[in-house]
Amino acid sequence: MEDIEHIPKELKLIDENGVRLDGRRFDELRPIRIEAGVLGRADGSAYVEWGGNKVLAAVYGPREAHPRHLQDPARALVQCRYNMAPFSVSDRKRPGPDRRSVEISKVISEAFSSVIFKEQFPRTSVDIFIEVLQADAGTRCAGLTAAAVAIADAGVPMKDLVTSCASGKIGGVVCLDLNKDEDNFGEADCPMAIVPRTGEIVLLQMDGHLTYDEFQKAMGLSIDAAKRIYDLQRDALRRRYSATVDEILREAAAAPAPSPAPAEVAFDSQLDDLGREGSP
Ligand code: CDP
Repeated sequence: MEDIEHIPKELKLIDENGVRLDGRRFDELRPIRIEAGVLGRADGSAYVEWGGNKVLAAVYGPREAHPRHLQDPARALVQCRYNMAPFSVSDRKRPGPDRRSVEISKVISEAFSSVIFKEQFPRTSVDIFIEVLQADAGTRCAGLTAAAVAIADAGVPMKDLVTSCASGKIGGVVCLDLNKDEDNFGEADCPMAIVPRTGEIVLLQMDGHLTYDEFQKAMGLSIDAAKRIYDLQRDALRRRYSATVDEILREAAAAPAPSPAPAEVAFDSQLDDLGREGSP
């Protein structure tokens, strides 16, 4: 009850100067940090911090699909499980799947289905796990962005990374990347995911209402932002896999001297034997 009393009667999400409650302009993203290869047990993994969102993605596969009756003899299955930790939101979330997480898992697996070269891996499955540790609106976009880096980290062949972002409408203004208050009290939210290299849209959803012009504007903002997020995804992979010449030389110097090749060992032992035979 106390909480409700603290909510202002009329929440102004964007002021007359076009500044939002968290200080951003209409076309600004929240700060984003992406790390690739953060988990030792998964084939590929990534961690994304996106404003107040903290999301982990782990990927396994392509590996034999189980249960076997699900196997497709012509291609790999792409399966996703999006999950929110009970402590990820302010009201404890009941553990386990619910309608929302089943929907998000489905749309994310469909988005990746269209980029992964599934025909190369019949009877297998690529399993994507997305764990939301802290949520602040836009978790499906953060999860998808993390999962794309994790799939690349696992070495699964695909057309390109998938990059995701949402735009919506608050106080009558179309804005990029809504945070939790904006998502709760705004008029619309429209998450999308794009394959940057081809421009293909692989996820598009809408919560609320936008006119055609507003929708065009929202998509324009999201597509522009996706280019910036794509750079961050590629940077994360580069940081994980690129090595400087110095690093290579340092590693080579630290490595133990190579043991003699088997042929040399055999020849040396023959010499020993000869020596023994020849000695009195
Ligand atoms: O997270 P995303 O925007 O992709 O999905 P949403 O269904 O629009 O949820 C928006 C936000 O509502 C989430 O990011 C959470 O911060 C919050 N939420 C919550 O507090 N409790 C839930 N059970 C589900 C969502």
